[in-house]
Amino acid sequence: FQPKLLAGKRVLITAGPTFERIDAVRGITNTSSGKMGFAIARAAAEAGAMVTLVAGDTPLATPRGCERINVKSAQDMLAVVEPRVVACDLFISVAAVADYYVLNQSEHKIKKDAHILTLELAPNPDILASVACAANPPFCVGFAAESENLLEYGEAKRKRKQLPLLVANLVQTAMGADDNEVILMDDDGQHRLPRAPKMDIARRLIGHIARLYPRWQQQ
Ligand code: C5P
Repeated sequence: FQPKLLAGKRVLITAGPTFERIDAVRGITNTSSGKMGFAIARAAAEAGAMVTLVAGDTPLATPRGCERINVKSAQDMLAVVEPRVVACDLFISVAAVADYYVLNQSEHKIKKDAHILTLELAPNPDILASVACAANPPFCVGFAAESENLLEYGEAKRKRKQLPLLVANLVQTAMGADDNEVILMDDDGQHRLPRAPKMDIARRLIGHIARLYPRWQQQ
């Protein structure tokens, strides 16, 4: 028996990679399967939440009971997330958002020739930071995939983006795999969740969020 830890809560989740267009057939993306975000959406729905899943390109099936909105670029993702923030209690940002988009993108397929082609990259908006820094923000959960100095970079990211909870993992362990191993970072410190299937990690994360959320609300 799974207690309904998030009964009636409205949860907005971003998952998967964004795709930044170069031309009609090419683009820049991140390595992200979307598995962790989809597992969290499923665990939140199991826990009684009303879940909206904003998903980048991934062939994964929509978890039962979740509303899914597909997006391509970071700017598309922001445009879907922004108007929904006021109507959510929790925002869980699992998406691997591309840091840059292509300024000089072409409507047509770029033809190859002997010249050097230069792509101009401009920074994308930080979706999570903009949600977390808004007036009356939802309870925001961020992810940090690092290849080194996990604890130090993770805590710095949590402070910079003003997050009550950050989930840190090593890219080497997480990417594309069915298992994950994460460290939860919050105001009480660090809690390690040992290596386990992403669905187990997702359920434990939802349990942790359900414990923190009422306390955070009272602050
Ligand atoms: O700064 P960094 O990209 O490492 O932060 C990762 C966290 O921020 C993740 O939760 C990710 O979903 C979110 N993010 C975002 N928009 C961006 C970049 C990252 O929402 N442009």
